[in-house]
Order: sequence, then structure tokens, then C-alpha cells
Amino acid sequence: MKRLVILISGRGSNMEAIVKACAAEGWPAEVAAVISNRPDAGGLLFAAERGIATAVVDHKAYASREDFDAELARVIDSFAPDLVVLAGFMRILTPGFTARYARRMLNIHPSLLPAFTGLHTHERAIAMGCKIAGVTVHFVTAELDHGAIVMQAAVPVLPGDDAKALSARVLTAEHRIYPQSVRWFVEDALMWDGERVTHRDGAAQQLLLA
Ligand code: GAR
Repeated sequence: MKRLVILISGRGSNMEAIVKACAAEGWPAEVAAVISNRPDAGGLLFAAERGIATAVVDHKAYASREDFDAELARVIDSFAPDLVVLAGFMRILTPGFTARYARRMLNIHPSLLPAFTGLHTHERAIAMGCKIAGVTVHFVTAELDHGAIVMQAAVPVLPGDDAKALSARVLTAEHRIYPQSVRWFVEDALMWDGERVTHRDGAAQQLLLA
């Protein structure tokens, strides 16, 4: 049984998709805890209702990123996770923190990396006239929104799209590829090849939605 700790900052719809898939598909895993840096994160309620342990480490209570990350690591480690899952966790992490969870921390980012790291990905994709947008699940390294890509999904940018419409289309894809990626991890289906990650049996690591 692999132990998962999921970090959120807000509504937690990706966390919810992972919790539900884990239960419905009988993964060899359990969600040991959901941790938020915001006390008012909507997703905490869902987790608590499912009987999952929750914790808050409020970044506003710490003088530096190092202090916050040290306390966050202490709380995470108290749940002894095999994998840390960043699911809309909106904090920049210190190199010490990312090194501690090297190759055992995943993130989801709402763009086709390496395009549009950082914030406001959908606004920027529309402003550039992108025809394709998407989402990436990747292992976390010290560099923001970099690290080995586990899976990507591409969706069209349609005429008349605003950021809200595009983010809704991308979110549907997020809810498919994040549970799939975490499942691969807990099933030991991911294989490192240098700095890249592939699926052991060659399963498609991309999802193309029309
Ligand atoms: C998701 O769209 C996720 O890709 C994005 O935040 C949203 C969280 O939604 N993450 C980032 O922008 C990370 N840089 P959720 O709380 O409903 O899962």
C-alpha cells in the first residue's frame, strides 16, 4: 500500500478526482492526508467528509520560505508518504524542500510545458493566439514548473474562448491525467531513463482531446 499526501491551496478538484479514482479503481494506495497552506481551502471539507486526515500549514504564519517549508515538511513526513501530490498548491518551493522529495513529488500545471510556466497560463495562451493548449503532470524539481513529464493532455483553443472557457476545458483533461499519473506511480509503472520518465509497458503518455 503506497501512502499519498496531497497538497492543495483552494477548491481541490484534482485532489477530489484522485481520492475518488483511488477508491473506485482499488489502487494499492491510500490518501493519508490532505494539507493546505490556506485555512479556507474548499477542498479540506471534502477530504474531512471522506474521513481523510487534514492539516493546515498557513504560510502567512512564517517569516521566510525556508521556515514555512521546514514546517510543511515536518507535517508531511508525519504521514510517512511514498508520494507527495501537489494539486493546485500555489507556493514556490525552496530547493531544500524539492530535493527532499526528489522523484516522489508530482505537480500538475495547466499548460503544455515548457510553454507558459508560472501564472495566468490560459490568458497568456489566448493572448498569443495558441491553437492548442493543455496540461502537464510532472515530477517536481527546484526549477519552477520543470521536471520530468509523466503525462500531457492537449485541448483545442476555440474561437471566442476566454480564460474561463479554456480553463474549464483544460480542467476536464486535468481530472483524467492526474489520477492516471498517480495511479502509474503507485503501481510502480513509471521508469526513469536518465532525467526522463516513461511508462514501463509503453502506455500512451499523452491524451489528445478534440
Ligand atoms: C488547476 O487548474 C491546476 O492545474 C492549477 O491550479 C488549479 C487547481 O484547481 N495549478 C497551478 O496553476 C500550479 N501552478 P483545483 O484546486 O480544483 O485542483
